[in-house]
Amino acid sequence: APAQSLTGRRVAITAGPTREALDPVRFLSNHSSGKMGFALAAAAQRAGADVTLIAGPVSLATPPGVKRVDVIDARQMKEAAERAADLCDLFIGAAAVADFRPVEVAQQKIKKRGGSDTDSLALVKNPDIVAGIAGRRERRPFTVGFAAETEKVEEHARDKLKRKKLDLIIANDVSVPGGGFNSDRNAVTVIGADGATHLPSTLKSELADQLIEIIAARAFAR
Ligand code: PMT
Repeated sequence: APAQSLTGRRVAITAGPTREALDPVRFLSNHSSGKMGFALAAAAQRAGADVTLIAGPVSLATPPGVKRVDVIDARQMKEAAERAADLCDLFIGAAAVADFRPVEVAQQKIKKRGGSDTDSLALVKNPDIVAGIAGRRERRPFTVGFAAETEKVEEHARDKLKRKKLDLIIANDVSVPGGGFNSDRNAVTVIGADGATHLPSTLKSELADQLIEIIAARAFAR
């Protein structure tokens, strides 16, 4: 059984993708299944925490004892995350938030334009959820992000750690087959200001227990 390293702590975790609507029948999204974030929520609950899981559109069961808030797009996820962050000691951003959304959401199904074989879509940046929470001056929880990378994994992750003012970042090489998006297994490197710890490939449930122990020790060590 995991140590009760988060007893009395309130934890908020984002998981899954976001969906950014183009029109009533189409959206932009990604391949996140929510498995990593849900595994972290279950592990935090096992470690004794009071857990709020903010979930994008996924088809996973809520881990026992976890409070779940369902959202669809990035702006809804930000609103739910900010509300949960007001009350939590630890925030973990495991969601694959869409970086951009269509500038306009068409009220009716978009019709093909005649004549041209190409088209383009105007996009606008979504707010950065984890950076907003890590950048707080008041009510700032210990804030952990992920970095999903396909090259120069540690370098890009360290850059995000600094730029988003995170306490820790979990570097996830999503180009490795059998890991990352939608897999049952994953391998990551936890990076902080004072060093890195590699966690080799294992089931996401097992990896989540290891991650929660590392994060709890860094966040709440007496
Ligand atoms: O869901 P699974 O299928 O189990 O897959 C797991 C995973 C690969 C999705 C997960 O392990 C992971 O890597 N999550 C982060 C995915 C991601 O979008 O990473 P990023 O490098 O683009 O973002 C960096 C950090 O900023 C992340 O903590 C992300 O949640 C956060 N972010 C990004 C954009 C944004 N607008 N708001 C954010 O909070």
